[in-house]
Amino acid sequence: MKRILRAILTRIKSLFLSSTAKRHGLVGQPELWKIKRDFQIDYLKSVGLKPEHYLVDIGCGTLRGGIPLIEYLQEGHYYGIEFRDFVLEEGRKELKENNLENKVPVLLVSKDLATLSMDAQFDYMWAFSVMIHMKDEIADKCLMMVSKHLKPNGVYYANVNIGEWAEGNWEGFPVVCRNLEFYKTMASKYHLKVEDVGDLKSCGHITGIDKQDSQRMLKFSK
Ligand SMILES: C[S@@+](CC[C@H](N)C(=O)[O-])C[C@H]1O[C@@H](n2cnc3c(N)ncnc32)[C@H](O)[C@@H]1O
Repeated sequence: MKRILRAILTRIKSLFLSSTAKRHGLVGQPELWKIKRDFQIDYLKSVGLKPEHYLVDIGCGTLRGGIPLIEYLQEGHYYGIEFRDFVLEEGRKELKENNLENKVPVLLVSKDLATLSMDAQFDYMWAFSVMIHMKDEIADKCLMMVSKHLKPNGVYYANVNIGEWAEGNWEGFPVVCRNLEFYKTMASKYHLKVEDVGDLKSCGHITGIDKQDSQRMLKFSK
């Protein structure tokens, strides 16, 4: 009942939003959109991302993080993967509005990361606010895909909820919370190591919302 009421309220609110705010709302709270856009490129640069690197943005959504990355990276070096086709469609509009189609990013809709075919190996693999929405079997497929496409010296960063929080739902996706051991065990299946880099706040993600800033950043490598 509560969930239905919340869905009705969200629908009513969306009737009063501008089309830009509606687009921003497809990947989270519109009022946090800029913080989360800036954080992604700033963080990736701080951990060594250079224009010549190849990067894949898993769960790229509407290219909230993708647009500055596409601008920064060399032509054809950004790959974005998204589950929801209508959301990626909004991302394509963002790309056009930002005059970045000439950077020819590779944008792919994928319903199953295990069968996704990409002819590229990546220096950086990135999933911002995505693994927190993956059921166990999908997280497993994600790490399998990462292991297949990560260069020997490449790194995969993903923020996760660690601890014992109440789980929830967002836009039809679950909101999951696990312990670090879970990720270590799953990663070792695919010959990956995991390091807990710190909370998002210490990585520069400062929204003032503890539940978000206290998420952990994990770094996976071979
Ligand atoms: C909270 S949004 C974050 C979007 C983007 N990373 C950003 O920061 O702007 C999570 C996105 O991940 C996508 N997603 C969830 N599960 C996925 C999966 N298994 N494969 C690809 N995308 C997925 C959702 O559709 C959604 O657009």
